[in-house]
Parts: sequence; structure tokens; C-alpha cells
Amino acid sequence: MSHASPLRLGVLGSGKGSNFCAIADAIAAGGVNAEVALVLSDVESAGILGHAATRGIPARYIEPGKFRTKLDEAAEVAFVKALQEARVDLIVLAGFMRILKGEFLRAFEGRVINIHPSLLPSFPGLEAWKQALDYGVKVTGCTVHYVDQGIDTGAIIGQRTVPVLDTDTAASLHERIQGAERQLYPAVVAAIARGEIHTRGRQTRGFVSPGV
Ligand code: GAR
Repeated sequence: MSHASPLRLGVLGSGKGSNFCAIADAIAAGGVNAEVALVLSDVESAGILGHAATRGIPARYIEPGKFRTKLDEAAEVAFVKALQEARVDLIVLAGFMRILKGEFLRAFEGRVINIHPSLLPSFPGLEAWKQALDYGVKVTGCTVHYVDQGIDTGAIIGQRTVPVLDTDTAASLHERIQGAERQLYPAVVAAIARGEIHTRGRQTRGFVSPGV
């Protein structure tokens, strides 16, 4: 994916939107050759929608349907349609808390990335920072990866480490991991926009971490 014109991003989030803000700010500062074409959320009150509106970026809530952990069929169609109409090149999951399945991934094959708050493959799933703390690891971090059919299993593009301190609580560790996320995610999007990431099966090449 090499783009002379800005890479068009579709950002999906369910929460407060700190990763979205980091990416939008990096774009505004001229460090990422991309533009956020559309922000979508499955949560009507999600902070990410307000942050998008403040920045003048089109943002919509789409009703997710009856399931708790995935989109129902109609919602999936609505998400795909909105993103296709916005002509997005890359889907950026930024705290989107539903699993995206077959039809969605087929529509955007190889073009969906996610950020996860642990060093995958350790601690996939929910509250990964708490899983790391409870397990007793001394180093954790965050991972940006392509999204495949599994849960947090796709090819890894970039990671950043975060030490676990003796004094850490779940909240303090989560906060430091989120700080690392705000550095890692814009750097990965910038590298994709420059056409530097090459993927073969599980192996990706080309990302130079802004620090580990
Ligand atoms: C981020 O910490 C992200 O890693 C996590 O949700 C948070 C969203 O924060 N995602 C997952 O756990 C996905 N499995 P944000 O809304 O402030 O960007």
C-alpha cells in the first residue's frame, strides 16, 4: 500500500478515543500522510465521536444490533457500506470492542489494523494490562497487528514495551501502556502510509519502532 495522496483512514472505536486523538494530532502536525475520512462507533456516548466532531471529522454512531461481542448482520452491512462510501484505504481499530467477522474482513482484506494493550501473543482478549499484572510479568506493552479471523491473532506490525513496576496498580499500568500506544499507533499508520510495511503470511517487514 503506497500512497502519494493521503491514505484515507476509517477509524472504529467504542471508548474514549485517545488513540484516535493521537493519530489525528500526528496527521495535523504533518507527521502522517493520511486523513481520517470517517469515524464510526458502536457506542452512542463514546468519547471518540465527540473528539472527531471537535476536529471537524465526519463521525457516526451505528447501532450494533442484538449481540454483545460482535455486530449483527445488518450492522455489519451498515459499517461496511459507510466505510466503502467514505472510500477508506485502511481501517484503524482504536478501542473497538467488538469482534469483526467474515463479511467485514472480506470487504477490507489485509486493510484492517488493531492496537492491543499487551505484547501479543501474551494476554489476548479483554483487560490485557490486568492479565499481565495478575500473571506477574515484568515487561508488557502494546501491539499493532493486522486483523484476521481470530482474536488478537493477526500478523504483528509493531510493538512497544512497558516495564511493570512493583508499585503498579491495574490503573497505573494501563495508563503507561496507553502512553506507549499513543506513540506506537501513529508511527505504524505513518509507516503504512509511506508504503513501508510488507507482509508475507505472519511475517511483516518494514516497521522501525519509535522506541521499545
Ligand atoms: C486501548 O488501550 C486499546 O489498546 C484497547 O482499548 C483502548 C482504547 O482506548 N483495545 C483493546 O483492548 C482491544 N482488544 P482509547 O479509546 O482511548 O483509544
